[in-house]
Amino acid sequence: VKDIGICAIDIYFPQTYVNQSELEKYDKVSNGKYTIGLGQNNMSFVGDREDIVSMAMTSVQMMMSKYSIDYSSIGRLEVGTETIIDKSKSVKSSLMSLFQERGNTSIEGVDTLNACYGGTNALFNSLQWIESSYWDGRYALVVTGDIAVYSKGAARPTGGAGVVTMLIGPNATLVFDQFLRGTHMENVHDFYKPDLSIEYPYVDGKLSIECYLRALDKCYLEYKKRFETTTTSTFSMESFDYVCFHSPYNRLVQKSYARLIYNDFLQNPNNPKYQDLLPFKHISTGKDSYINSKLDQITLKLSLDDFKRKVNPSTLLSKECGNSYCGSVYSGILSLLSNVNDLNNKKVLIFSYGSGLAASLFSLRINNSNSLFKTNDIGRISNIKERLLNRVKTSPEEFSRILDIREKSHQMSGARTPIDTLDYVSPGTFYLDKIDDKLIRHYKIK
Ligand code: ACO
Repeated sequence: VKDIGICAIDIYFPQTYVNQSELEKYDKVSNGKYTIGLGQNNMSFVGDREDIVSMAMTSVQMMMSKYSIDYSSIGRLEVGTETIIDKSKSVKSSLMSLFQERGNTSIEGVDTLNACYGGTNALFNSLQWIESSYWDGRYALVVTGDIAVYSKGAARPTGGAGVVTMLIGPNATLVFDQFLRGTHMENVHDFYKPDLSIEYPYVDGKLSIECYLRALDKCYLEYKKRFETTTTSTFSMESFDYVCFHSPYNRLVQKSYARLIYNDFLQNPNNPKYQDLLPFKHISTGKDSYINSKLDQITLKLSLDDFKRKVNPSTLLSKECGNSYCGSVYSGILSLLSNVNDLNNKKVLIFSYGSGLAASLFSLRINNSNSLFKTNDIGRISNIKERLLNRVKTSPEEFSRILDIREKSHQMSGARTPIDTLDYVSPGTFYLDKIDDKLIRHYKIK
């Protein structure tokens, strides 16, 4: 089997969003804190009419119909999410209703849970299945995303929502580089959800940023090791045309690309283009190098032109929809395909981070020559720019009211119908109709 990777990709994001500069005023924080300080434009959210199952169903059905994929051609279905509505039943099982009604019940795969990294694990499993002796010739489907909500306060503007679906197979458009992966995992408590009675995480914001950047450093070194055993060239950011990051908020993505440039400098400190960084050589991966505004200033300036060219095209969806946790980095890939026309043979580096923590740096090459769908087709079919423009902007008061409804609804028990109306659910979208006396959730399409 040749050229295994992503053959098609699309995203479902909700109809409603709140504007970040309006949210700044409502939250009485200084002008620019969310829009410049965090780098975010808008944020997607849902009330209690949508949950992770309804969003995943919408995302899968949209992919299958837009690309006219036969339901029987799927042999593996993996879900990556941290939006938990059942301690036992996987979202994958709920998605089976779409397949069983069309006669396909022979589908491997269940859910993977680890903060924002579940989708990456689901993707890796699917790639490895196709490479293995267990593969039966069919496609895999990876469904990944979340509803990210935080309690009131500093973290709330870094929420978001969206579910990405990817069709994985041979002769792909986005072909993953075999063997080239750098992984770093450790046990930390930067972000976790120990209290199942509330939807919100326990989060140590500053620690999570430090963990994210440290994981990036470690993955850089691991990837570099593998890169340099398989090629004769030296590894640096010059080896790639584009870089996609997991994006909790855009400013962290800017800092992360700058951090990769800092890593390039540490590998090659005598290169004259890095001379402004020489005073920062000794701190390298020390604690004070992760939150250091002087170092940030220099690396951000040094990397700015490259950032605009190599990273910015992949940031559209995360700036507009916010953090979709497991979906975030893959919405970055889709943004890239929607923003750049001539991608053939381009090399893309990808950084996936999930708190707790699990992180990987991996890469792909774009193959428009003998793939079924070209990157331009995928960009056109996903139509994200027009869909983003057609959303409904709600006021921060309404956003706050709806999150209060979600919170209340989450704490209710027993048979119930959701509190929210169907006003914000767009036509063709699955929604939660009711929860019956056995606590089984029932869905309908609007
Ligand atoms: N104009 C321009 N910039 C501003 C303004 C302003 N008016 N006000 C503040 N800023 C800047 C700050 O200087 C800061 O920049 P810096 O990061 O370069 O220092 C930035 O905006 C953020 O301001 P802080 O005061 O540091 O923000 P705060 O502590 O209130 O919250 C945080 C930010 C920690 C990211 C919070 O939103 C959070 O906890 N989010 C959830 C955790 C998260 O997303 N972690 C990332 C990795 S893990 C994951 O994916 C979930």
